[in-house]
Amino acid sequence: MAAQTLEQLISAGVKGRPVLVRSDLNVPLDDSGSSPTVTDDGRIRASMPVLQKLSDAGARVIVMAHLGRPKGEPDPQYSLRPAAARLAELAPFGVELAADVTGADARSKAGSLDDGGVLVLENLRFDPRETSKDDGERGAFADELAGLAATPDGQQGAYVDDAFGAVHRKHASVYDIASRLPAYQGDLVRTELDVLDTLTRSPDRPYVVVLGGSKVSDKLAVIDNLMGQADYLLIGGGMVFTFLAALGHDVGSSLLEEDQIDTVKRYLDAVSGSDCEFVLPTDIAVASAFAADAEHEIAAADSLGQSAFGASAIGLDIGPASAENFAEHIRSARTVFWNGPMGVFEFEAFAAGTRTVASALTETKGFTVVGGGDSAAAVRTLGFDDNQFGHISTGGGASLEFLEGKELPGLTALGE
Ligand code: 3PG
Repeated sequence: MAAQTLEQLISAGVKGRPVLVRSDLNVPLDDSGSSPTVTDDGRIRASMPVLQKLSDAGARVIVMAHLGRPKGEPDPQYSLRPAAARLAELAPFGVELAADVTGADARSKAGSLDDGGVLVLENLRFDPRETSKDDGERGAFADELAGLAATPDGQQGAYVDDAFGAVHRKHASVYDIASRLPAYQGDLVRTELDVLDTLTRSPDRPYVVVLGGSKVSDKLAVIDNLMGQADYLLIGGGMVFTFLAALGHDVGSSLLEEDQIDTVKRYLDAVSGSDCEFVLPTDIAVASAFAADAEHEIAAADSLGQSAFGASAIGLDIGPASAENFAEHIRSARTVFWNGPMGVFEFEAFAAGTRTVASALTETKGFTVVGGGDSAAAVRTLGFDDNQFGHISTGGGASLEFLEGKELPGLTALGE
């Protein structure tokens, strides 16, 4: 069964009808000023078209979203206020924020929405039932959320899932609610799926996958799956040190997941003789400490402990020779998927690897996909424009789990 589309919902008529939309407004914030501000509004912009279409069609739109990982109770640090404020700045429609999730304020504001009005509920994760492992608890919360779409005149509400970044979560607002209201797939989810389908079904070759980020354990399943699909797997970021250690190299005090070394060794063995090749850095930017202004130098990737900083050397970026080698692979690719920064790009001294990789993606004639919150934030922070890439995914974990071939609860719930 194929999921019902937003177009189907709109053509059925939504004027005056309450529509609950699950959006992914989980954006990075800068807390250093007097009030927090959004540092990368990519997910907010990506969520706009569906909200706009529904508002234009006269629906009473109730947006459900999360921000960060609060501990199941209201916590001002995780309020959706800055995200809702940014949405209001960008949107031609009015945006209100409820002071709670399904409490008195949310019920009252949902009940008095005008046609075309948009209400954002507070962070769903302020209620522990949103993420509960207990079906009954999640179900009860989904009932309350669905109840916000009840109208005195009995107009039937609807549910739209447009939060691609959260489709891998079996949460009340993603999974359980879809069986409580007529459910539809948002355009953002459709677009993301179309792109990722191309990558898994028929990528033009060479197909180069660039993986970075800090934890190798987050990426093992996707590496396992991609070994059978990609032509080259380029590995950078903090996770590379577990690969270097698996090859018997001295990584000094760099990030290391010792319990994953054996698995990585198995992958390195499995890949030799296959059609896929791992490309690892040959040089690393090592520092004396994890700090923006730490002393640093370029060291050979097989002997970080022999650098000027000895056993305390911490690798914080791939080195220039490795970055250029990665860039050459990327430039000659016909398809590129990139997830995870190559180094600590937030520190200017260690942003070069990520910048070189991003730049190579903009130069290739192939189809490029940037997947993941961190990589998407990285390219924007480093000054690249969204339209320099084939597609910037809003899904971090979601796009990886899709590429792993996992069943995604949010898609199952929609009948995808
Ligand atoms: C993300 O940032 O990848 C999504 O918003 C999901 O967030 P989560 O990993 O906290 O569930």
